[in-house]
Amino acid sequence: MFNPVLDGLPENAFPRLANLIAGIQPGGNAPPILMSLGEPQHPVPDFIGPILASHVAEYGKYPPIQGTDAFREAVAGWLNRRFELTRHPVRSEGHILPLNGTREGLFSAAFLVTPPKKDGRQPAVLMPNPFYQCYAGAALAAGAEPTYLDATRGAGFLPDIQALSPDLLSRTSLFYMCSPANPQGSVASIDYLKQLVQLARQYDFVLALDECYSEIYTRSPPPGGLRAASDLADADAIEPFANVLVFHSLSKRSNLPGLRSGFVAGDTRLIARFRNFRAYVGPTNPLPADAAATAAWRDEAHVEENRRLYRQKFDAADEILNGCFGYFRPAGGFFLWLDAGDGEAAALKLWREAGVKVLPGKYLARGAVGDPYIRVALVGPLEETIEGLRRIWRTLGSG
Ligand SMILES: Cc1ncc(COP(=O)(O)O)c(C=O)c1O
Repeated sequence: MFNPVLDGLPENAFPRLANLIAGIQPGGNAPPILMSLGEPQHPVPDFIGPILASHVAEYGKYPPIQGTDAFREAVAGWLNRRFELTRHPVRSEGHILPLNGTREGLFSAAFLVTPPKKDGRQPAVLMPNPFYQCYAGAALAAGAEPTYLDATRGAGFLPDIQALSPDLLSRTSLFYMCSPANPQGSVASIDYLKQLVQLARQYDFVLALDECYSEIYTRSPPPGGLRAASDLADADAIEPFANVLVFHSLSKRSNLPGLRSGFVAGDTRLIARFRNFRAYVGPTNPLPADAAATAAWRDEAHVEENRRLYRQKFDAADEILNGCFGYFRPAGGFFLWLDAGDGEAAALKLWREAGVKVLPGKYLARGAVGDPYIRVALVGPLEETIEGLRRIWRTLGSG
């Protein structure tokens, strides 16, 4: 009855956390503070509601797989501005496909590019460790071997790509990379991204760059994979984004995780295949959501406001946690990755004694690389976040 390929999938992080604290009352004599889930709590941009309302009749239509022209044009404009793609601008035709949130697109990508065998062997799908859990599920479901590349503090919380053997690379079908990274917030430099693109082209695999946190940063904007690919291509290249797909979302950028709207962009050959594949799988974006998303990609004011709100919380974290738990201010994203010695024990203690819910790093990793850490999401309101950080500091000691 069950597909044994999926036996390798451990229970998801959030049911594991629920089991860890099952039956334990939150301590602290005050309302609990939830800092485990990466669900943005900042307000939905105020222009979204009226757009959805004015397009409501379009729920009566099947939406096209490729979305509307207006959506793809808004996305192309945003990508070209944001990543300064002047040498090889992204085109609304051929380079972009809407997604029902990036998660399903990231998952589908593994099926799109994983052959039964590569170099005569089972294909490998590479991913950082710790990682967004969807990558491992997708790799397994597509019949590949998920291959976890430790991203340790010593290596700037990025996989050491110099250490990858030609033997592994030659059977790699897909490399999931996340920048800014969930959970550590590390950002891959443009040189790092270029090295990845070069490897993808040399060993003929696809680089899937998960950039859904790219707009949440407190200092400089993280570089992107399309720009790295374009920089490496000849000025008259027909396929400047060869072997590269980037994934973006409104979930974090625009506080719209419930809209389920994202996109994939890159190599036209992959996008064409992806479109055909999606015509079978069927995930489309309702036309009212497509219209709201179009407006969101055209607007930067709400994104700047969003960054301001996160900046305030990171400033508070700098003060409260400085010098404790290996604290560092991440270059991107909205998580703290704190070394608590034993992350699972710390998560339990925080819930039991202080009513703060955080995620043990172990649940996001394979092997021991995540064991010492807890992931703390700074997604709530400022005052609540400050209170949560103080409780963490008090409960776990100064580290
Ligand atoms: C690293 C990473 N990638 C992708 C996603 C998926 O986001 P969405 O499907 O809402 O676009 C998330 C959501 O938490 C994430 O953390």
